[in-house]
Amino acid sequence: MTIHIGAKSGDIAPTVLMPGDPYRAKWAAETFLTDVRLVNEVRGMLGFTGTWQGHPVTIQGSGMGMPSLSIYANELIKDYDAQTLIRIGSCGGMQEQVGIRDVILAMTASTMSTPSRGIFKEFQFAPCADYGLLAAAHQAAMAKGTTTHVGGIYSSDVFYDERPDLNEQMVRHGILGVEMEAAELYTLASRYGRRALAVLTVSDHLLTHEALPAEDRERSFGDMVEIALTAAFA
Ligand code: HPA
Repeated sequence: MTIHIGAKSGDIAPTVLMPGDPYRAKWAAETFLTDVRLVNEVRGMLGFTGTWQGHPVTIQGSGMGMPSLSIYANELIKDYDAQTLIRIGSCGGMQEQVGIRDVILAMTASTMSTPSRGIFKEFQFAPCADYGLLAAAHQAAMAKGTTTHVGGIYSSDVFYDERPDLNEQMVRHGILGVEMEAAELYTLASRYGRRALAVLTVSDHLLTHEALPAEDRERSFGDMVEIALTAAFA
């Protein structure tokens, strides 16, 4: 047990998928894993462990934003020895060629700040994905026929952004999409020598203002889970 995770040691698998929404963790575990058991419900941040094609897997909610993800990822890594951490979540599209429902594999995650900012001071660390996971996820997405983009994303501290000028610069510099967690996950994985990746579905678009209809969310989310699981055990 840790401060925020009630699981006993051994209850968390070496491979952890991290959706922001704890109910998505429940849905994904019940849909894709067998022998599923609830391993955490502290603060309602549900976590489940089961097996996928014979491999043990934990699916643990991260909450929204880097401070929340940082708490869970720190405890999963340091207290439960998680080795592979894959964020599965949604993002806002930021390029014309990126469409609603497309998948983005985040090669890098630029940010103004993460909870780790304090240790870097003037140094600008470049949070990046584990290349083996990234390559395997790309292969899995191609095999499924999912329209997929690989490149840089932006991890923001705010959903309701008041900096249109900054968004313009990001679009100009090829940033594919915006979400709120990956940069801290990548930074922690680098610090502790673990593997991390963010597999993201484009749920809304900052340029076109389109949004994924509610009825499509489940299917798109399922594609991401399958890509993440296939990549984890490739
Ligand atoms: N901004 C930040 N995070 C997000 C967005 C967004 O537009 N869409 C999904 N996650």
